[in-house]
Amino acid sequence: MTKNIWEKIDSEQELNHEELCSLLAMENAEQLELLYQKADKIRKKYVGDEVHLRGLIEFSNYCRNNCLYCGIRRDNKKIKRYRMQIDEILDTAILAANLGYKTVVLQSGEDMYYTTDKLVELIRFIKKNADVAITLSIGERSYEDYARFFEAGADRYLIRFETSNPELYAKLHPDSSFENRMKILNWLKQIGYQTGSGVMIGLPGQSIEDLARDILKFKELDLDMIGVGPYICHPDTPLAGNPNGTAEMTLKVIALTRIVTKNTHIPATTALATLRPADGREKALKAGANVIMPNVSPIKYREYYELYPNKICIRETERQCNDCIKRRIYSIGRTISKGYGHSLKKKTDNAIAF
Ligand code: SAM
Ligand code: FES
Repeated sequence: MTKNIWEKIDSEQELNHEELCSLLAMENAEQLELLYQKADKIRKKYVGDEVHLRGLIEFSNYCRNNCLYCGIRRDNKKIKRYRMQIDEILDTAILAANLGYKTVVLQSGEDMYYTTDKLVELIRFIKKNADVAITLSIGERSYEDYARFFEAGADRYLIRFETSNPELYAKLHPDSSFENRMKILNWLKQIGYQTGSGVMIGLPGQSIEDLARDILKFKELDLDMIGVGPYICHPDTPLAGNPNGTAEMTLKVIALTRIVTKNTHIPATTALATLRPADGREKALKAGANVIMPNVSPIKYREYYELYPNKICIRETERQCNDCIKRRIYSIGRTISKGYGHSLKKKTDNAIAF
């Protein structure tokens, strides 16, 4: 590694594609440690020591799409499907608020059972009954739908672009295009959402050059939140038999995402913790991450939201996950945020309401 790149990182100069590729190719343990330390320093400077907790409610595993990597894809007939009713989702959001979470993330497959009207009603109910910010992660909908959810009180929207390589994107997503994802991300920003996206690491056919472009794309999109997790192979998908992404490459991308984008919210993802249950989240928090999304879905549904096998926290209660996560955060000398953890880039109308 040339001294020059480290100096550029220290003086917060922009890294180009070639430099990102050489950092991503790095394997020397001491150099990797140095990279994580530099990302950690930038994390501390721009987003501080607080970790934001977002309670994740996986409310339906029905999906109209057939993404090649995903365990809840339409054609996976082996999985038992479930849907939570509006009242049940509301009760879960209240439970999350009672645990002290200041954000709930409502995530599902692309399930049109939840009409625009139903979701608007749900968002209003939650805002009325629980003191939380709302993040939606329900896939592709129309501009009008996104605008109505925002008007009803949704603060944030998460939709990953998965890979910045349009050909690879097309191979993995029979029902969508990279172009459409970009259009949606622009809509969400226009409407006023705090907007999150992200990628998977180690997708079959993905190169280091692609990953470097992913990181530059994060910067170009000026995102508020960026999720980076390993691809984990699901046996009941067309990609069965492919290797998983690695924890190491995921940590490198997290660190470089922090170095390049500075003040975004970056979670230590559940997929990374699934690859490394003992210390994946701690490692991510020490390499640039500042968010964790504890699962608060009712236990009876958890095993069925199986995007990938051996997902963690299938049998632990929301209270156990809450205790476990707090312990992990304190063990590395970090603190837990008591605020909503809104975007550090801008305040949207919905965000100001709190
Ligand atoms: N339907 C919504 C969407 O597509 O944005 C939200 C749910 S989707 C299942 C959430 C994320 O799970 C995807 O963006 C994808 O990155 C991740 N995911 C799906 N299958 C995965 C796998 N096999 N390994 C790791 N992550 C996976
Ligand atoms: Fe669920 Fe650790 S977060 S058991």
